[in-house]
Amino acid sequence: MKDIDTTELSWDEWDELKDPRPEENDFDAVVERALSRRGFLGGLLVMGSGAAAMGTGLLSSTSAQAMSPKSRFAFKPIPIQTDYTVHVPEGYTWDVLVKWGDPLFSGVAEFDHAAGGLDAENTARAFGENTDGMELFLIGDKQVIAVNHEYANTKTNLHNHVDGKAGSAEDVLKLQNLQAITVMEVTEGEDGWSVVVDSPFNRRLTHNSPMRISGPAAGSDLLKTDADPEGVLSLGTMNNCGAGRTPWGTYLTCEENFNGYFGSSDPDFERPADFVRYGVNLEGRYGYEKFDERFDISKNPNEPHRAGWIVEIDPSDASSTPVKRTALGRFKHENAACAVAPDGRVVVYMGDDERGEFMYKYISNDVYVPGGDTSTLLDEGQLYVAKFNDDGTGMWIALTPEATGMSAVETLVYSRMAGSAVGATTMDRPEWVAVNPIAVEGYCCLTNNRNRGVKPNAGGDDTSANGPNPRDANNYGQIVRWYPENDDHTSDGFTWDLYVMAGNPTVHNDAYAGSDNVNEGNLFNSPDGMQFDSSGLVWIQTDGNDKNEGDFAGMGNNQMLAGDPVTGQIERFLTGPKGSEVTGLTWSADRRTMFVGIQHPGGFFPGKEGDLPRSAIVAIKREDGGLVG
Ligand code: FEO
Ligand code: CA
Ligand code: CA
Repeated sequence: MKDIDTTELSWDEWDELKDPRPEENDFDAVVERALSRRGFLGGLLVMGSGAAAMGTGLLSSTSAQAMSPKSRFAFKPIPIQTDYTVHVPEGYTWDVLVKWGDPLFSGVAEFDHAAGGLDAENTARAFGENTDGMELFLIGDKQVIAVNHEYANTKTNLHNHVDGKAGSAEDVLKLQNLQAITVMEVTEGEDGWSVVVDSPFNRRLTHNSPMRISGPAAGSDLLKTDADPEGVLSLGTMNNCGAGRTPWGTYLTCEENFNGYFGSSDPDFERPADFVRYGVNLEGRYGYEKFDERFDISKNPNEPHRAGWIVEIDPSDASSTPVKRTALGRFKHENAACAVAPDGRVVVYMGDDERGEFMYKYISNDVYVPGGDTSTLLDEGQLYVAKFNDDGTGMWIALTPEATGMSAVETLVYSRMAGSAVGATTMDRPEWVAVNPIAVEGYCCLTNNRNRGVKPNAGGDDTSANGPNPRDANNYGQIVRWYPENDDHTSDGFTWDLYVMAGNPTVHNDAYAGSDNVNEGNLFNSPDGMQFDSSGLVWIQTDGNDKNEGDFAGMGNNQMLAGDPVTGQIERFLTGPKGSEVTGLTWSADRRTMFVGIQHPGGFFPGKEGDLPRSAIVAIKREDGGLVG
């Protein structure tokens, strides 16, 4: 274990290293058994195991129509790349809008490549690291982007890190200031897009910014600490991954791998069951607990309960206090996709990104009235968890005290345990959820799950292959789609199919070849970010293996593709720099610019040889000035 470079681990690899799942089996033996058991012999037959569950969805209508010569895409698909820059189709251009360390306010120091960027104080006034989910808001005639900074690359930004951890309180503060949120005004001039330095909309939220806790769990004993005996005001928002926007124009930021920030100064601290379920362990990823007592679970055992929420931010008021909305449940929130039901109630779809965890939705009690009071909509409502049946049907199960045997507050603070109590379906790492704006249907990227059929989730729930997660040891991922009963997102019942199963037909001729809408020209793995544009095309971003060899041969760097929900056709639009994840997507108010996030690039992107690689948002336009979404 000592030989592992922990700075190179993904968050889920970190969790498994520090908190191995129970009943670990011999991986190869399990895969072999699973393959023979399921008779994975040939393409269509294999698909049939999933197809039985998929009904006529993906495999008939979608694949047949994928052959249609009619394409809705206004671009010529591009090939894979393995280099260290961004590529877009002919007739499109890209440029950097902003990158890690760029100033939001005047007086910020020059970015120092040799010193790992900026010091802690300057970092808090500059664009953060590891850009992720984002949304653009039109406020009056100003365009304001709210964007997440998911985590920090200590290998890049802390040259004196010790095994990826901070070595001093100053280092901890710098890491805390590199992460969380930027809100910034952007404008387009003759030289392209730029940040409006010193705009009154600009703000940086960090791991120390005050956040109001709201909803049913606010003020509960589970959220009280010595520093906040009322349990209503926490500091910071952590591991902000994907995002969402409410119909009333606020930003939703989603706290994902919050567990990894906590540790214990007491090596004998006995973790309660919920810490085990959520992966809160004795060693924090960045060593916060050594220099900031708030992150020491032996001293502040309730502090982890104050993270793992969805946080609402008003981008129009830089002095507003963000609000942690506890009614939406606590888990490793990926993103939040809102829909308004026919009766005006607000529905929020959410995924919990960990192997074998669940998908959720929330329904408000009150209805949304444009221009009306929205203050209760994310505080008063019911949380549900998804149960998928193998016959192509499914049900949202309300996480009530009656159904779970837990108190109402516990169902929110310990949502995972509530989901297990009602037999929710274990999923292959739910990443972004997206709702089609022109059809009543939802999509969720199930990015991959090498543990499918290999070992249970952290709660001990069975993770044998099931309908929407049909492949054991699934390294490619798939996108599940559901159709709410009665075309109403508040319905309990739904039917579902798989929009796509990623795979590699050049390497495999079984289920791992993928679905019929995957071909040599659009190979990808690990779908993650996902957004619909206003025309109803779905944009898919990847965070997968970019080695371009073996099972992943022909897939190249991480990328962004566009999908037609009706025909199933999927084509590649953008490739990212080697080493990067492509994540976060939003549009200018006139839809003539698309903003795309490039996280943890390799090489020197976007600078010159010798520069530190810097995560960045790029602005993509059509040379003819046409719409890009
Ligand atoms: Fe932060 Fe699940 O991606
Ligand atoms: Ca993600
Ligand atoms: Ca991911």
